[in-house]
Amino acid sequence: MLDRLDAMVLSNARSLVCYPNPSSPLCSKIIKELESRGISHVISYGGFKIGGHSILGHGWAGNVFLAVSEKHGLLAVKSLHPKSRRRSMLKEALMWLAASRLHVAPQLFEASRYFIAYKPILGPRLADYRPRTQQEKAYTAARLLTKAHLLDTIGVRHGELSRPHAQVLIDSCSSEPYIIDYDSATLHTKPSNLPKIIGGLARIKAFRDCIDTIQVRPLLSHYKKRHETNILIELKSIILRKCLRPRQLFNQASKQSQ
Ligand SMILES: Nc1ncnc2c1ncn2[C@@H]1O[C@H](COP(=O)(O)OP(=O)(O)OP(=O)(O)O)[C@@H](O)[C@H]1O
Ligand SMILES: [Mg+2]
Repeated sequence: MLDRLDAMVLSNARSLVCYPNPSSPLCSKIIKELESRGISHVISYGGFKIGGHSILGHGWAGNVFLAVSEKHGLLAVKSLHPKSRRRSMLKEALMWLAASRLHVAPQLFEASRYFIAYKPILGPRLADYRPRTQQEKAYTAARLLTKAHLLDTIGVRHGELSRPHAQVLIDSCSSEPYIIDYDSATLHTKPSNLPKIIGGLARIKAFRDCIDTIQVRPLLSHYKKRHETNILIELKSIILRKCLRPRQLFNQASKQSQ
């Protein structure tokens, strides 16, 4: 699908890169910086529409768009926009780097005061994700728990995982979840990302049947005091069992045979 899309030369894509104010002085600085890092083109693609074009996303901190660089190929770029609540992307870049080294976040390729560039994840946000099977759902939930725990082991508190609807992207090919948006991330001695993501999954319709909040509660209060790997393992096995319980497998089989 991507090969059918037109790439726009970066300097002609100001209305996308610098939405909502392409004529601002900050915009010229951002374009110059992107060019100096070899980012040459922007691809109109994604769910946020601007005029007749699209970008991947527009939030409080940045505009996220698909771009091309000779060195890295296809990239997702998150750059400050003129109305951003941030003045620099460097803190987010640092948190992102730590998370991407553990494959929790998509791989980080470039960073500067004005932007970060990382691997695009072409797939739904957690809120829009419709797993094809209970097994796929169980896999995604278990990987998310592991990734939240990995952030706990390095002392990074994501800060927005109790509402993970737009903070997790699912790779459509592998069903691998990636935690994005380190805009609110901080260093913390007890980050407790794991309890937050479990609470967050329970708020998402597709995952609700995998989380028994009463059963996991005592383990979570223990985990909040000590971020131990054996509690992660226990929590994962409870959630996997609940996701894959025989009644659901039976329902699935009978639907397929209809
Ligand atoms: N690697 C990526 N691949 C594909 N789409 C992405 C990627 N990173 C971000 N996006 C899209 O861009 C949106 C905005 O990204 P992000 O949440 O990092 O920006 P933000 O400015 O911090 O937004 P908010 O103010 O909502 O927190 C995401 O919800 C997602 O839809
Ligand atoms: Mg954000």
